[in-house]
Amino acid sequence: MRLPVNVVTNLAVIALVMISDSQHNALTTQHIHSPHEPFSSGPIALPFMRPEPGCRTFNSTAVENVISDMKSLLKDPDLARLFENTFPNTLDTTVKYYSKSENLAFIITGVYAQWLRDTATRFLAVYVPLLHSDPELASLVKAVINNEARYVTQYPYPPPESGIPPAFNGNEVGARVFPPYNASIVYDCKYEIDSLCAFLKLSRSYYNATKDASFINEAFQASFDENYNFISYYRYTGSGDSGVPFVNNNGTGEPKAYTGMVGTHHRPSDDLSVFAFLTPANAMLSVELTHLAQMLDEVSTMRNVSQQAKEWSTRITNAIWENTVVNNVFAYETNGFGSRYVMDDANVPSLLSLPYLGFLDRSHPTYVATRALLLSHANPYYAVGPTWKGIGGPHIDAWNPWHMAQISSIYGTDNGQDILDSLNLLLNNTSGLGLMHESLSIYNSSSYTRSWFAWANSYFAEMVLDLADRKPELILKENKSYRPGQ
Ligand SMILES: *[C@@H]1O[C@H](CO)[C@@H](O)[C@H](O)[C@H]1NC(C)=O
Ligand SMILES: *[C@@H]1O[C@H](CO)[C@@H](O)[C@H](O)[C@H]1NC(C)=O
Ligand SMILES: *[C@@H]1O[C@H](CO)[C@@H](O)[C@H](O)[C@H]1NC(C)=O
Ligand SMILES: *[C@@H]1O[C@H](CO)[C@@H](O)[C@H](O)[C@H]1NC(C)=O
Ligand SMILES: *[C@@H]1O[C@H](CO)[C@@H](O)[C@H](O)[C@H]1NC(C)=O
Ligand SMILES: *[C@@H]1O[C@H](CO)[C@@H](O)[C@H](O)[C@H]1NC(C)=O
Ligand SMILES: *[C@@H]1O[C@H](CO)[C@@H](O)[C@H](O)[C@H]1NC(C)=O
Ligand SMILES: *[C@@H]1O[C@H](CO)[C@@H](O)[C@H](O)[C@H]1NC(C)=O
Ligand SMILES: *[C@@H]1O[C@H](CO)[C@@H](O)[C@H](O)[C@H]1NC(C)=O
Repeated sequence: MRLPVNVVTNLAVIALVMISDSQHNALTTQHIHSPHEPFSSGPIALPFMRPEPGCRTFNSTAVENVISDMKSLLKDPDLARLFENTFPNTLDTTVKYYSKSENLAFIITGVYAQWLRDTATRFLAVYVPLLHSDPELASLVKAVINNEARYVTQYPYPPPESGIPPAFNGNEVGARVFPPYNASIVYDCKYEIDSLCAFLKLSRSYYNATKDASFINEAFQASFDENYNFISYYRYTGSGDSGVPFVNNNGTGEPKAYTGMVGTHHRPSDDLSVFAFLTPANAMLSVELTHLAQMLDEVSTMRNVSQQAKEWSTRITNAIWENTVVNNVFAYETNGFGSRYVMDDANVPSLLSLPYLGFLDRSHPTYVATRALLLSHANPYYAVGPTWKGIGGPHIDAWNPWHMAQISSIYGTDNGQDILDSLNLLLNNTSGLGLMHESLSIYNSSSYTRSWFAWANSYFAEMVLDLADRKPELILKENKSYRPGQ
């Protein structure tokens, strides 16, 4: 079966990089497993969870200024504490290597690997508005873009310039991939659409914030030559390891028919797709291709890439509306033969996060109808317990909703009460540790996954800043919009 519009061979190389500095991880892990003083003065009394200044991995005055602004503006001292813990989390804990002169940065995640998506979204989420006022932070983001461009094309990991030795991903042993890759230098080689999209989003956001086009270097251009290589198919068999299950049909996935969308075997959570055409990932791709074209046209470069980006963006958006919507409700996945899976997965991109992704307005009737269904038992991954509820996914299971899905839900509404309900759930459900988790059981409020999940922390802080701008009356002392760096 052919994948229709296929955006890449080496895009497949989304992942990369284990870090072998167990010392840093041990320190961070130890720190986040127990609450630290002082506690916030609200009823939930959240601990202070930033590492000691001497252990922080990057310092930014602009970031400290936003924290002190928000602490004085926010009504609720518990929310202020959660913001204070989450907003700087990426800089505090994950900059493993940064060299301005080499223009390279190596950023680890809560699972000790640098994923294109996690890293890009974490940076753009919270720090982009500050780039014009903090040149060192801007250099760091530029270095992240350069490292990611290299990962898309030639994937040396970690950057050899860092002197950090590569590690070994035991899960992938026995997985067969076409086009083939070298497992000694590539950590993971799944093809996930949103990973490339996140790289595009970080690039255009950096450009938009700084108007500095110097990141469009050879590595960046080369990444597009790879990206726009059509391939007849991408095949990934999996290894049968519990985290890396076999993909049907010898690695080509379930049969699919041409729709105009891009097919994938894996969701943003790394779980297997049921049907190949993942609606939210295609929505993100369409949005990012449009922004990419705008940026390239503005700096008058790579006209051929820009032209293709525009054509594909239009084709994908049309295909989404023609193939995935029935009775005004989007399907999460389709196969081009008429089969649809109506559900949502907790990760981003999800259907719930379509407004956050910029695909449509939160008041669009199709979004409103889809959202109502997703936040009900018509969505098989929606679960409700006595103290916690929301949308989960097969990455954990159907009765462990994710904190990220509550955050997406806030982005998807203007209803003040709905926003406050979700915020309260998030504030009350950090297990007293003052940081976001990945998921939490609806049956047992002490049972959660991942104490250190930098992506979820950044997404939370980004959402609080969005509310401070969009709905100040809900969370700020004064009904006056706040925007960082202004
Ligand atoms: C950040 O600043 C603290 C002092 O406030 C210092 O000890 C630490 O080394 C700095 N971190 C980096 C990565 O420069
Ligand atoms: C894979 O990469 C390693 C490390 O650079 C190298 O020694 C080896 O020759 C490569 N293998 C192949 C098949 O290219
Ligand atoms: C560019 O930045 C402005 C101001 O922050 C923002 O409103 C706009 O959405 C951004 N556009 C893109 C394409 O990133
Ligand atoms: C765009 O054009 C340049 C210059 O002719 C070429 O090197 C590059 O491969 C082209 N890229 C794509 C994606 O067609
Ligand atoms: C499965 O794919 C592998 C390559 O990845 C190929 O060598 C093998 O022949 C395929 N098996 C079948 C039954 O098609
Ligand atoms: C959150 O906790 C506070 C304080 O313990 C409590 O007043 C509030 O009702 C809780 N919110 C929810 C949604 O359970
Ligand atoms: C989640 O919030 C509820 C309501 O405030 C509380 O009873 C429960 O203990 C919280 N769970 C965690 C893990 O914090
Ligand atoms: C709830 O989860 C905690 C942490 O995983 C575990 O220690 C405890 O035994 C669980 N309680 C029940 C009733 O299963
Ligand atoms: C806050 O300000 C907005 C816009 O100025 C206004 O529409 C809204 O009614 C105000 N809310 C309150 C609670 O005063």
